[in-house]
Amino acid sequence: MANTILVGAQWGDEGKGKIIDVLTAKADIVVRSQGGNNAGHTVIHDGVTYVLHLIPSGILRRGKVCVIGNGVVVDPIALLSEIEELRKVGVGIDNKNLLISDCAHLVLPYHRLLDEQRELRKGRAKIGTTKRGIGPAYGDKAARTGLRISDLMQPIVFSKKLQAKIRENNSILEALGAKPINYRDVNESYLAAGKKLRPFVANTVVFLHRALQRGKEILFEGAQGTFLDIDHGTYPYVTSSNTTAGGACTGTGVPPHRMDRVLGVMKAYTTRVGEGALPTEDRQLANMLHQLGREFGATTGRARRCGWFDAVATHYATMINGIDELAVTNLDGLDRVDSIKVCVGYRLNGKRLEVPPCDALQLDNCEPIYEEMRGWNQSTSAARKLSQLPLAARNYVKRIAQLTGAKLSMVSVGPMRAQTIFL
Ligand code: GDP
Ligand code: IMO
Ligand code: MG
Repeated sequence: MANTILVGAQWGDEGKGKIIDVLTAKADIVVRSQGGNNAGHTVIHDGVTYVLHLIPSGILRRGKVCVIGNGVVVDPIALLSEIEELRKVGVGIDNKNLLISDCAHLVLPYHRLLDEQRELRKGRAKIGTTKRGIGPAYGDKAARTGLRISDLMQPIVFSKKLQAKIRENNSILEALGAKPINYRDVNESYLAAGKKLRPFVANTVVFLHRALQRGKEILFEGAQGTFLDIDHGTYPYVTSSNTTAGGACTGTGVPPHRMDRVLGVMKAYTTRVGEGALPTEDRQLANMLHQLGREFGATTGRARRCGWFDAVATHYATMINGIDELAVTNLDGLDRVDSIKVCVGYRLNGKRLEVPPCDALQLDNCEPIYEEMRGWNQSTSAARKLSQLPLAARNYVKRIAQLTGAKLSMVSVGPMRAQTIFL
């Protein structure tokens, strides 16, 4: 399988967790390179549903090593509770199967409060963040004022830096009308968490390079999706990291020439949670999916916005990420739709666009140009081979892969491992 970067080709929640879990069977190491616990990756195994936020989705497979890379922002309290929850349901986690980079930045309570306050102040212009403090944590990293896991491993250094940071952030919080936070409480709880996390902390760059030298295969687990990328997404309605393929290199220290392929995961339709343009949004489709109990956020429980498949977006995603192969998920979500729309272009001020515009307002004003395809009106969830799909469903997946411009290699027809078709 070689070293694979897996990215979301849309706005997140494409089903990356499920596909990672399936692919981990053949990989040795699964590494997260960006994002934090804003992510929610669902994996269903033996009838149990796991939602992973910081821990890579390979954790349910024995004998695999999961790595939280340097590019991830780690909330140590959230990470510990994730580890404990998994242990409670029998998933073994120790430093043989989980490593955390000492260079990863920390998410602190003032990041979460600032995230909340900034959203409140924006009113209707809010981003609709997960309120996990991700933006402010990456903001500190870029401003070179962040605290890292390596600081947390040195209690005296950590406490001193934390005190200064809390003083500075309390004055900002107070100016915003929010309550200041207590240094002692944060210091105590973070140091206690640091003590518990110490066994997992390592130089993960060196670990990954040694593993590569021994011929191990690495799966790079993207979080969020292409259009939430801080550079290439629908700015400012984005997250604060590089969710696109390049982020896998910077966020892990594995260089580009060691990457063998990029796999893009995309739903057979489009969803988005949070604010920002979604050109193909369709209320009827959303109602139908929500009535089936589908498309509720794995992290915040919010109902996801839904729309038709947007090939302008996924084609652009193929270009930016260098997607070689595609995994189409949630095909079964369209099982009961008579006529399916596919967006093949945008119209803006009378002109046809083949790529999404950079500007948020312009994207908001884009009208989708649709092609219509026949639905199949029967269940696809039992199919295990492409030939077992109804002809109209086969035509549909082939058409969206063709418009996206990459080779179709997997089709997912349900949330379970087995509900996967390999081509
Ligand atoms: P991620 O963030 O990309 O890992 O995706 P999420 O886990 O947030 O959301 C994807 C949802 O779709 C989860 O509830 C998955 O269990 C589910 N899922 C993934 N693939 C399929 C599929 O092919 N069919 C169905 N019905 N559900 C799927
Ligand atoms: P996974 O990995 C879908 C969205 C938020 C918001 C924007 C910024 O499960 O695909 P943030 O909290 O990151 O500052 O929020 O990004 N968002 C996601 N949407 N899936 C995710 O992760 C997301 N992580 C963040 O809803 O619009
Ligand atoms: Mg998700």
